[in-house]
Formats: sequence, C-alpha cells, structure tokens
Amino acid sequence: MISWADRWAEGSAPGPEATRTRPVRTLDHMPGPSFASFAWDLFAKRGLSRLHELQLEGVQRYGPMWKASFGPILTVHVADPELIEQVLRQEGQHPMRSDLSSWKDYRKQRGHHYGLLTSEGEEWQAVRSLLGKHMLRPKAVEAYDKTLNSVVSDLIAKLRLSRSPHGLVTDITSEFYRFGLEGISSVLFESRIGCLDQAVPEETERFIQSINKMFVMTLLTMAMPSWLHQLFPKPWKIFCQCWDYMFDFAKCYIDQRLTAEAEKVARGEKVEGRYLTYFLSQTGLPMKTVYSNVTELLLAGVDTISSTMSWSLYELSRHREVQASLREEVLTVLKDRRMPEAADVAHMPLLKATVKEVLRLYPVIPANARVITEKDVQVGGYLIPKNTLITLCHFATSRDPAVFPNPDEFHPQRWLNKDQTHHPYASVPFGVGKRSCIGRRIAELELYLALARILIEFDVKPDPEGVSVKPMTRTLLVPENVINLQFIER
Ligand code: HEM
Repeated sequence: MISWADRWAEGSAPGPEATRTRPVRTLDHMPGPSFASFAWDLFAKRGLSRLHELQLEGVQRYGPMWKASFGPILTVHVADPELIEQVLRQEGQHPMRSDLSSWKDYRKQRGHHYGLLTSEGEEWQAVRSLLGKHMLRPKAVEAYDKTLNSVVSDLIAKLRLSRSPHGLVTDITSEFYRFGLEGISSVLFESRIGCLDQAVPEETERFIQSINKMFVMTLLTMAMPSWLHQLFPKPWKIFCQCWDYMFDFAKCYIDQRLTAEAEKVARGEKVEGRYLTYFLSQTGLPMKTVYSNVTELLLAGVDTISSTMSWSLYELSRHREVQASLREEVLTVLKDRRMPEAADVAHMPLLKATVKEVLRLYPVIPANARVITEKDVQVGGYLIPKNTLITLCHFATSRDPAVFPNPDEFHPQRWLNKDQTHHPYASVPFGVGKRSCIGRRIAELELYLALARILIEFDVKPDPEGVSVKPMTRTLLVPENVINLQFIER
C-alpha cells in the first residue's frame, strides 16, 4: 500500500506547484522502442500473441508510460492504475475506444450499421441508453436467472456426456464456447439454438469458428498498413468472410424470431417477449441497427464467458482448498436446494471474489484503449495531443507486485480482506465509466450460476497428465493450450 501511495503521488496529474518546477513534457520526450524494434517484437518474435507480456516488458524497460508504433498507429501505453484513472477521468461525454479499428472499416465497406461495440457519439449514446435499461439494471438482469439456469442444466448434462470413463473432459474451453453462445442467445432470443446438444448444428460450429478466426485476424489487420492489404490480401479477406458469416447468422435468428412474433400478433395472440432482440426491435431503430447490435452482443458473449469459465475451473482444480471452501459456501446458502437463483449470489462473497481474482489474473481484455477527441490531455506530466490512441495496459497493472502482493498467485481471499485494499483502477476487467461493459451483470450472473452448479455436481480435478497453461493474446486473452479437467461425480 505504501509503495502504491508513493507511486500515486508521483504519477498523479501535476498540481500548480509541480508544473512550475517540472514543465509538461511532449510525446517527443516519452521513451519507447523504435519503430523497427517494436515491429521486430511483434512480427518476428510472435509478439502479437504475447502482447500482454510485452506490457510487462514495456514497464520494465520504460516505466509506466511509453510510446510505440503498432503498425501504422502511434500509441501511448499507460501501465499504472493512477495514470489509467487520469485517462479515464478525461474521456469526455462520448468515450471512444479506438478510432482506427478494422471492425469499423469492415462495416463501412459492407454498408452495415455500427453496433454498441463500434458506434460512436450520439449514435452510440442512443443505443447504450436503450440497452442499459435491460442490461444494467440489477432487477432486469436478475429476471434472466431462470433462462440462464436452464442453459446451465444443459451444460452440466453436456459435461457428463463428454467425460471419459475416468471423468476427463478434454478441451473445456471449447465446451464453454458453446455454453457462452447458448447463454447469450437465450438472453437475446429467448429461445435455444442447440449449442449444447449432442450434435451441435453446423452453422453454430461455423459461427464459433468465425469468431475465433476474426479475433486472430483483428490484430493482424490492424497492425498492417492499408497498402499492405493490397499486397497481402489474405488476412483482410478472411477477416471479412468471418464477419459476413457472423452478420448472416445473427440476421437469420432475428428474422426467424420476429417473424414468429408477427405471426402470433396476426393470429390475435398475445406477445410477451422479454428477450433483448424483442426490446430492441420495439424501439423504432432501423433494422440494420438491430442486426449489427445483436451480432456484436452475440460475439461479446462467447469468448469472454468461455475464457473466464475455463480459467476459473483451471485454477479451482489446482487450489483444492479454495474449491472446497467455495462449495461449502454455496451449499450453506442453498441448504437443501441444488439450483441457485440470482438473489442467492448476494450471500456468496467467496464466489464473487473468485471471479474477481480470475479476471485479475486473466483479464479477458488485457489491453483496452481510448481516443480522446475533444481536447489535448495531460497524463503523468505528458501532454497527449487529442486523437492519440492511448492503450490502457490492464494486464500489467493487475500483475503489478506493488499493488497485488504475489501477483501471479491465485488468491481470491485477497478481495475479502478489508485491510488489503487496492487502487480501484488496478484491476478493472469490465472497464470503468460510461463505456464500460454493458454485459457485465449478465456475464457475472451467468458465471456465478454456472460455477456454483458445477461445484455442487462435480469435484473438479486437474488432468493427471496435464501441463500448466499460460495465457496468450488473440485480441482477447485466452488459454494458450488446451485445458483438460476431470469432473468427478459428487
Ligand atoms: C467475463 C465476461 C466479460 C468481460 C470481462 C467483458 C469485458 C469488457 C470490457 C473490458 C469492455 C470494454 C469496456 C471499456 O471500453 O471501458 C467491454 C465492452 C462491452 N461488452 Fe463486455 N465483457 C464480458 C462479457 C460480456 C457479455 C456477456 C456481453 C453481452 C451480453 C458483453 C457486451 C459488451 C458490449 C456490448 C460492450 C461495448 C459497450 C460499449 O461500448 O458501450 N460483454 N466488455
């Protein structure tokens, strides 16, 4: 805490006294690798899949702020909780994540509208306010617990089916992709799409593969200047094909669902949709905006859930004492029930702390970004011109030993110890403020319900032949290798 407080004082925006003694510096004074050496790290040393590690190396070499050119883009890296807070407190009325995204270029080329992930300004604000009513209000989200619980029941049945005679389930991440997609689909369409069936529909499998490939291609297409796209067209082509498939997939489900609804109305039947697509379609937004928003929500709900579920069980299987305490907590709250409800979670502090700890160690979005368009801003004594891409190095801050003692250790209890507080911006896996994750409450509920039920049903053990698994960057942070776990019947 003391070292953090010292750094807070050093890193905070200079007050009048400080500015008199230390003039504000420009980006010319900011340290950082040369274009050539960063490009070498990225392309020749597999840096694109190690971007999270490059954050740690960056802090060691240059301190908490450095600049680097990510392909054609100059970006300022900020890797200190206090400095991240300074950036986010100046993000303005309509925060912008990144101006230069290849995701936006694709939508422009195809004439699609933007969804919540990609839209900006007033357009973003309008949809954010509409969706916020159904996704951010605790009561509205709690109402999804039955829907999500039925998906969790299918997940449990699927895990049972997938087990070897010794209880081993191989590649749990791919099981959880299907769970993530089924979960978010049930919330969006209030109907099931069969991801957890024994034979997964081919189009669902292709949708999941498209997300995976699209994430790999995102970093590559962004790191390549556009003239290189002409010379090496393959990454951009694959990237577009993946998005085409994802947009088609979402459109197909939305049209099916809304047609069924319209037919009911025509028959004079009452329509009582309480799913997100229905709410969106009732707002008067153009259908193209509904399509793009649903596509982006579907996408946002798959890898995020899958990765967090995988790491949670991976760590719990290796920390048997935490697993036992967590199970005890769940069983004590549920008494003779076997199915938790949203309201139960309020009484499960260790469950919440476990998810927090998992997201500290493995933040699904290891680096976020902001572009401040309204004005130049001062951060850590540097003047950053408006429209500069600022990369927020969340992986580095959440593994910083000065903030989190023994940062590489899985220790959920650190979140329960009232004497051990952390800088509030040191681990912010869902982001902070107006542009933070709109799916946070749904995601947390889904994770809590699934983890609680899995621990009631199974004793989760490591694969006796398994190796330790490290994370890798694929735009998102995902397990580098396959994770296999034993699910032993309780
Ligand atoms: C463990 C699960 C998840 C994590 C860690 C996570 C994390 C994040 C983060 C870090 C952001 C960027 C925030 C910012 O820029 O400040 C974000 C944005 C977003 N997330 Fe999530 N997310 C998760 C699950 C979900 C789910 C399940 C959904 C869909 C229901 C979702 C939908 C979105 C959307 C639409 C945005 C863009 C919000 C906007 O720009 O206004 N996320 N998420």
